[in-house]
Amino acid sequence: MSPSDPALDRSALSFTGVSAVRGGRVIWSQATFEVPAGAVVAVIGANGAGKTTLLQMVLGLVPVASGSLKVFGRDPGVDNTSIGFVPQHYAATVGEAIRADDAVLLGLTGNSWRPGRASAAQRQRVREALTAVDAQAFATKRLSMLSGGQRQRVAIAEALVAEPRMLILDEPLASLDLRSQREIAVLLARLHRELSVTIVLVAHDINPLLPILDSAIYLLDGHPHYAPIDSVVDDELLTHLYGTPIRVAHTAAGELYMRSVL
Ligand SMILES: Nc1ncnc2c1ncn2[C@@H]1O[C@H](COP(=O)(O)OP(=O)(O)OP(=O)(O)O)[C@@H](O)[C@H]1O
Ligand SMILES: [Mg+2]
Repeated sequence: MSPSDPALDRSALSFTGVSAVRGGRVIWSQATFEVPAGAVVAVIGANGAGKTTLLQMVLGLVPVASGSLKVFGRDPGVDNTSIGFVPQHYAATVGEAIRADDAVLLGLTGNSWRPGRASAAQRQRVREALTAVDAQAFATKRLSMLSGGQRQRVAIAEALVAEPRMLILDEPLASLDLRSQREIAVLLARLHRELSVTIVLVAHDINPLLPILDSAIYLLDGHPHYAPIDSVVDDELLTHLYGTPIRVAHTAAGELYMRSVL
C-alpha cells in the first residue's frame, strides 16, 4: 500500500464529481467538495435522498459509480480501521444477548471474536473506551438490559475502541428521549474535543446537534453539497430540502433552532 499524499490526508473526505447508482438508478450525482479532517458534519436530506448511501460509499460498501472519492487520501474501504461506524440499529446488528464489554471488544477483534481469549491489553482498551463514553456502570450488562441511550454509548465505545480518525454515525439520536439526545450530543462534543476525531452523522432532527456541528452535507435536488452549518440552517434552503415549510429562529440566548410551520 502506498503512503497517502499528506495534502489529501488533511482532508477527511474528498469528493470529485462523484455519483451514486443503486439498482441501475442514479441516486445522486456531481458531488464535488472536501471535508477537512476534524470537522463535525451532519448529512441531511429527505427520506430516500441517499444519506445512508453516502455513508456506505465512504465505508466502501457501495461503489463509486463515477468520479473519485478519497477517504484520508485513500480509496474507500482500503483502510476501514481508520473509521468507527455506528449503525442505525446497533443492538439488532450485534445481537441483544451480548454483554456491553464483549460488544465493544468486537470493535477490536472483528470476526475473530473470542471473549474468553481477549488479551489483557485488549481488555484494557475496552475499559478505556467504555470509560470514555461513561458506560462503566453497565459494562457487564447484556444489551437487552440497557436503555436506548445506554446502548448508544456502547455503540460509540465499540466504534471508538480501535482509535479511529473518523466516527460515522447513522441517526445516533433516533428514538432517544430529549435528555438522552442531549447527553449523546454532549458526549460527541467531548470526544471531538479530546480525540480530534472527524465526525460525520446522519440526522433528521439536527436541533440537538446544532451546538456541535460546524458544517453539513445536504442532498438537494439529487446533488450533495457541503457548506458551513450557519449557511445551511436557512429558511429557504431547508424548506426546499425537505419540501415542507421550515422556519429558522433564535432562542433568547441566541441559539439557533429550526422547526416546521403549518
Ligand atoms: N440495496 C439497495 N439496492 C437498490 N436501491 C437501494 C438500496 N438501498 C437503498 N436503495 C435506494 O437508494 C435510495 C437512497 O436510499 P438511502 O437509504 O441512501 O436514503 P436515505 O437518505 O438514507 O433515506 P432515509 O432518510 O429514509 O434513511 C432510495 O431510493 C432507496 O430505495
Ligand atoms: Mg438512511
